[in-house]
Amino acid sequence: MTSDGRADPGGPPPPDGAAASAGPAPSNGAAVPGEPLLSVRGLKVHFPIRKGTLLQRVVGHVRAVDGVDLEVRRGMTYGLVGESGCGKSTLGKAVLRLVEPTAGTVVFDGVDLGGQGPEPMRRLRRNMQMVFQDPLASLDPRQSVESALTEPLRAHGFPGDRQGRVRELLDIVGLPAGAAGRYPHEFSGGQRQRVGIARAIALNPDLIIADEPVSALDVSIQAQIVNLLEDLQEQLGLTYVVVAHDLAVVRHVSDVIGVMYLGALVEEAPSDELYAEPLHPYTIALMSAIPIPDPEVEERRRRILLTGDLPSPVDVPSGCRFHTRCPFRQPTRCAEESPDLREMRPGRKVACHWAEEIATGTIRAAASAQDPTATEVGTPAVK
Ligand SMILES: Nc1ncnc2c1ncn2[C@@H]1O[C@H](COP(=O)(O)OP(=O)(O)OP(=O)(O)O)[C@@H](O)[C@H]1O
Ligand code: SF4
Ligand SMILES: [Mg+2]
Repeated sequence: MTSDGRADPGGPPPPDGAAASAGPAPSNGAAVPGEPLLSVRGLKVHFPIRKGTLLQRVVGHVRAVDGVDLEVRRGMTYGLVGESGCGKSTLGKAVLRLVEPTAGTVVFDGVDLGGQGPEPMRRLRRNMQMVFQDPLASLDPRQSVESALTEPLRAHGFPGDRQGRVRELLDIVGLPAGAAGRYPHEFSGGQRQRVGIARAIALNPDLIIADEPVSALDVSIQAQIVNLLEDLQEQLGLTYVVVAHDLAVVRHVSDVIGVMYLGALVEEAPSDELYAEPLHPYTIALMSAIPIPDPEVEERRRRILLTGDLPSPVDVPSGCRFHTRCPFRQPTRCAEESPDLREMRPGRKVACHWAEEIATGTIRAAASAQDPTATEVGTPAVK
């Protein structure tokens, strides 16, 4: 560990002089907690849909990410929730430039990633890593753990004792030293995710984007991995963006939560405040579907049902993108005017024209959307 509590990244910078002069240098832990580490503005990823065998005409676009603004402060965890297909993974990949954004800017540690060529981008990625949902798919089955962990060290010219660093990484993530010689299929799901995490922290990054890091694991193992991520955050000063469909997991780990719907953020709030008082109709519906352990409260409360399927990101509804399913929809504005994600109260952002009226009860959910007896019906497939 270095004096600031981070794992030692392994001595002096890489010996390749080109890398030392090409573009932004890795920040390597000059961490000031609370300052913005990641700033995303107007980010769009529109995948073209092509038709025809020869000409491959573009006949439309999948608007996977459709104008996202967010800021992640150093040392914090930003949780991202939303239904399957709403663009969470694409957003994570676009931040790391693993998919090329169609528009918008991503500024990481003061550096605009849009202007970076391949080599500076490669060096920057050392500080931005991803943990995937399925560690088996993200690890090469023919590669031993030692080889998988040595690979990023070699690629970035780690000059120290690589075998020693592998042993150190295994120890940090709670695996025995003997794991180095074994292969991914020899591990349980939880152990494999520990290997995936060891690989992600190998180069001592600042930011980790964890895309559904525990959803493929047994419930009993999920808590262990969540605890490991939390411990590592404290020890290594990591900043996280965590994508998770389990609202309980997101609440547990996140300082701030962003709720995504059809490629856009519809609400953003400090975790506890979002759960205490959701402001956007979509979030209200998501929260109303979470069971409350107190049977009396559970008996009394009203569920807000969402009707209809998630529209296609190829054909995003006009006006408010949620209006085709919104239980609070109004005859004016909703279908015509797209609401901005605006700061309604300090720290509380919401993209709804009528959020104030809904919060005060002046506007109520349509009677057909309220079902006090509903159990599973209408529970949105949150992902
Ligand atoms: N390479 C691609 N080309 C075309 N469309 C894509 C591509 N990648 C993703 N999409 C589409 O973009 C939309 C968003 O996908 P994405 O995987 O980001 O959603 P998600 O929120 O992560 O979903 P899930 O919770 O199921 O993982 C989906 O409609 C998906 O089919
Ligand atoms: S703007 Fe209208 S349709 Fe959109 S969330 Fe608010 S009330 Fe619902
Ligand atoms: Mg995904």
